[in-house]
Amino acid sequence: MKEGVIVTHYRNTYAVIHLDYLLDNVETLYQKVKLPMIAIIKANAYGHGYKQVAEVLKDNPHISMFGVATLKEAIDLRKLGIYKDILVLGAIPLEDLDMVIENDISLTVFSKDYIHEIMHLYHHHKSVKVHIKIDSGMNRLGFKNKEEFEEVLKMCSSPVFQVDGVFTHFATADDASQNDAYQNQLDSFYAMIENHQFQYVHCQNSASMIYHETTHSHLGRIGIAMYGVDPAGHESKELKQVMSLYTKVAMVKFIKKGEKIGYGLTYTAKKDEYIATLPIGYADGVIRANQGRDVYINGHYYPIVGRVCMDQMMVRVDSTVKVHDVVEIFGEHISLARMARELDTIPYEIMCLVSERVERIYKNENKSL
Ligand SMILES: Cc1ncc(COP(=O)(O)O)c(C=O)c1O
Repeated sequence: MKEGVIVTHYRNTYAVIHLDYLLDNVETLYQKVKLPMIAIIKANAYGHGYKQVAEVLKDNPHISMFGVATLKEAIDLRKLGIYKDILVLGAIPLEDLDMVIENDISLTVFSKDYIHEIMHLYHHHKSVKVHIKIDSGMNRLGFKNKEEFEEVLKMCSSPVFQVDGVFTHFATADDASQNDAYQNQLDSFYAMIENHQFQYVHCQNSASMIYHETTHSHLGRIGIAMYGVDPAGHESKELKQVMSLYTKVAMVKFIKKGEKIGYGLTYTAKKDEYIATLPIGYADGVIRANQGRDVYINGHYYPIVGRVCMDQMMVRVDSTVKVHDVVEIFGEHISLARMARELDTIPYEIMCLVSERVERIYKNENKSL
């Protein structure tokens, strides 16, 4: 992808978000699993911007629900006019229960204490829509054994609740070396819910949909794959990375052999060198661990030298690099998968770290924005 002239506000550091790629990724996953899906758009849609992502997905026929982490994220979606079901996957402070019911939001119930608390605080005429979370092995939220689950179903048969779904989450769907653990989780989930009927049974995240056979779920939960990144950290041939991060060269200077660079003067020029200063730093999400990694400018890779600062960083370049040249931090030439490997992290974390002050520029080849 060649980024043409991009107009940014106030700053030369920006993320380009291809909403058409996002739609293509949804289609790709749908064609694979042939299941309607819950679009996971928590954490500002993994850093992509929940408003634009929700807007482009709200009438998508393959997306039947949205999944978020917090009540605020859910209410923000309702404020946008999202009419599809919204499931909060995490725990919320239950003092806000009225807001949940008034905004027709579905909650995840995951412990008996939480259910008791809902019953205690409930004073409404409409039921609370819930999905029951089963802990099939991850030991995060959810019910672990059948007796407890049966008890919970009885508790939830009260008019306080409307049980719409039951679900679990896999810990190792992205890791072929832990297929047994995946299978154990799947087996415990189905053993737990057997003999019961639910409107929505869902367990498959992106990795489960990509790397495992479709199970008997009613819905997939699509997160990272929708953003075009393989959940196992591989370079994907099928998915299209939705986000790219760019900046532009602010200054190029020529330094002498032996001169040092940045806070702590941790880099010493081995010979006379060209150094470009870029207006991007850890406050934008480019963490200090990036020191030593490459950026991409005009067809070449150049290393980040010296410590990454809050708002700036320096790159060792050559005489071809000029002020205003576009610099790719990640994108077509440096995938998030590669960057995550080099940083010993996962692409999820890099996406979520791209901070609010980085302007997002939305593109959609199928539609003028
Ligand atoms: C409960 C739950 N379901 C689905 C997802 C989506 O996972 P992925 O982005 O790996 O598809 C997440 C993400 O953390 C999650 O917490």
